[in-house]
Amino acid sequence: MKAIRVGLLGLGTVGSGVVKIIQDHQDKLTHQVGCPVTIQKVLVKDKDKKRDVELSKDVLTTEAYDVIQDPEVDVIIEVIGGIEETRRYLLDALQAKKHVVTANKDLIALYGSELTAAAKENGCDLYFEASVAGGIPILRSLEDGLASDRITKMMGIVNGTTNFILTKMNKENAPYDEVLKEAQELGFAEADPTADVEGLDAARKMAILARLGFSMNVDLDDVKVKGISQVSDEDINFSKRLGYTMKLIGIAQRDGQKVEVSVQPTLLPEHHPLSSVHNEFNAVYVYGEAVGETMFYGPGAGSMPTATAVVSDLVSVMKNMRLGVNGSSFVDPQFEKKIKAPSEIFAQQFLRIHVKDQVGSFSKITSIFSERGVSFEKILQLPIKGHDDLAEIVIVTHHTSEEDFTDILQKLNDLEVVHQVKSTYRVEGNGWS
Ligand code: NAP
Ligand code: HSE
Repeated sequence: MKAIRVGLLGLGTVGSGVVKIIQDHQDKLTHQVGCPVTIQKVLVKDKDKKRDVELSKDVLTTEAYDVIQDPEVDVIIEVIGGIEETRRYLLDALQAKKHVVTANKDLIALYGSELTAAAKENGCDLYFEASVAGGIPILRSLEDGLASDRITKMMGIVNGTTNFILTKMNKENAPYDEVLKEAQELGFAEADPTADVEGLDAARKMAILARLGFSMNVDLDDVKVKGISQVSDEDINFSKRLGYTMKLIGIAQRDGQKVEVSVQPTLLPEHHPLSSVHNEFNAVYVYGEAVGETMFYGPGAGSMPTATAVVSDLVSVMKNMRLGVNGSSFVDPQFEKKIKAPSEIFAQQFLRIHVKDQVGSFSKITSIFSERGVSFEKILQLPIKGHDDLAEIVIVTHHTSEEDFTDILQKLNDLEVVHQVKSTYRVEGNGWS
């Protein structure tokens, strides 16, 4: 049977992995879909760059449209990254009736609906499994494995770079900058790692997860984002003292018709399953009304894990080609988007405050919390080395609304005995859910 021909946009960390899998697993791929897979053309920036895969130089091009408009190409695999230019490439590829597989969460989070509409219109497939949680088949699990259930919560570690950094800071007291550099060298970080450390990469993934899990058009702007760049060694040490592990956690939760989606450094009890997810590994906890608790775990970044997800999408396209059903599996969102107000979002909160070490300070602070009906689960008070006039107070509250907590912070900042509110973090998973 005629080979299926792939046009590859990008031959970096993920693109090289894709070539390796297509070459090394050719037997399995041919067996699965009944025909061989060949790489027709590959877009790169620099044709002379040394590559760690073997490909004929004739296959390489620096002209995107040599790949996109090649009449021989059946499927475009996009692993160059970027947003606006890449969006144009993929819209043109779909227009030219090429099926598209992409690992690009930046693009799918922003233009997923537009690209889906273009794919539908042209009878093409559009798959993006690798865009969320690297090698973990989480999108397929939501779309197929859990298709019969109603999902109410998804919570997870969906950025490998920040998990790598926090793991090393937590376990080895390694300095932030050094560990970030290591993550970049290992190929986990984005071209601009700001997207990783400021939480944007995870927010993009949570928007994609929320759309699929809740069948609702959740936009990137609906995701509240806080990254890890402000996390200090003291924050990590105090969380450890109180029995917590700090992780960058994405939360998507539905209560009735309304949803909340956020990404933020979060304290989890150290015995919580997500606390033992280390380095570049990702894990996504999914709660369905019928199935109950499920957990998906695996490598969230890196060449071969991500390429596995990309090539599995390619297999889906090829199976659809054989059956003649490409472009027929899209499902429109079922529900109108309704985002919770801050008064409807509840969580425990950790806060670290520097206060004047004088009689009455503590009672002034506690009265601000009690006025809003917020009580404490844990409290720690310690002297601060080199500052005899100040004390460190660390508090973990019971559940409070975001609205009340914002108000409490405002009042604390206005209090004369408060020198500085040093940091605040959401606390999740006491009782694991
Ligand atoms: P990368 O290592 O930087 O590779 C990018 C590739 O695209 C390179 O081969 C580069 O060419 C080529 N390229 C970039 N811009 C180009 C342009 N304007 N014209 C022609 N070629 C261009 O990136 P990556 O880590 O493989 O990531 C690729 C995509 O996968 C991104 O969307 C990323 O978010 C996503 N992703 C990555 C991972 C991961 O672990 N790395 C995991 C999941 C998803 P040269 O080689 O000639 O420079
Ligand atoms: N930079 C991303 C991460 C790559 O660290 O998770 C995988 O999407």
